[in-house]
Amino acid sequence: MSDVGKRAAGEAAAELVEDGMRLGLGTGSTVAYFLDALAARGLDVAGVPTSEATAARCRELGIGLLDTAGVARLDLCVDGADELDHALQLTKGGGGALLREKVVATLSDRFVVIATADKLVDRLCDTFALPIEVVPFAVGPVTRSLQGLGFEASVRMRGDAAYRTDNGNAIVDARCDGGVDDPAVIDVTIGLLPGVVETGLFIDLADLALLGDDNGEVTRVTTVGEPDR
Ligand code: A5P
Repeated sequence: MSDVGKRAAGEAAAELVEDGMRLGLGTGSTVAYFLDALAARGLDVAGVPTSEATAARCRELGIGLLDTAGVARLDLCVDGADELDHALQLTKGGGGALLREKVVATLSDRFVVIATADKLVDRLCDTFALPIEVVPFAVGPVTRSLQGLGFEASVRMRGDAAYRTDNGNAIVDARCDGGVDDPAVIDVTIGLLPGVVETGLFIDLADLALLGDDNGEVTRVTTVGEPDR
């Protein structure tokens, strides 16, 4: 899918921001469009960035930055996703920022996902491998445990070297043929493996998804029982 859908979703999310809000600022190419649109609105807002890349872009755009140490709650978090299902459960971490993204999403009163419409799937972890942040010491055991659970698991590389997150950890990407039955159970199961810092499954966190398509149209997807606000 082209960048038209990403831009449309990012711009739609920027319209949800109100003056004075404290924001969670996600990571990725769709969020980049959101940040551009947000800066263009000229509002008095500030946010907690979920990656060094987002922090750098905010500095360029003049968007104020906050630190988690000084923030009890955030009004709104806007972030991308690698996959989402119809219950708005998400797979995130394609860009490696899943840990900070989950911390910030959890701090937020409202979490809005922006993505292209092709990322909506029936079952997670089939086409897109689930990213899992792991302390480097435990990469071998965690990878073998994931294989024992039925995943195709591989350590993420950057060139010849093992990939490192902004937190200095490794990422193991785990794909499940046919997808997972119950993402919430998988999240807990993997999260209990010693050495796992966080999984890229975002369970019951998203309130609304804005999905952009190649025509620049945006579809709103809400969780069951949630108002389409
Ligand atoms: C970053 O680690 C990810 O969670 C991103 O939010 C996700 O990969 C979506 O990125 P794009 O908007 O670039 O597809």
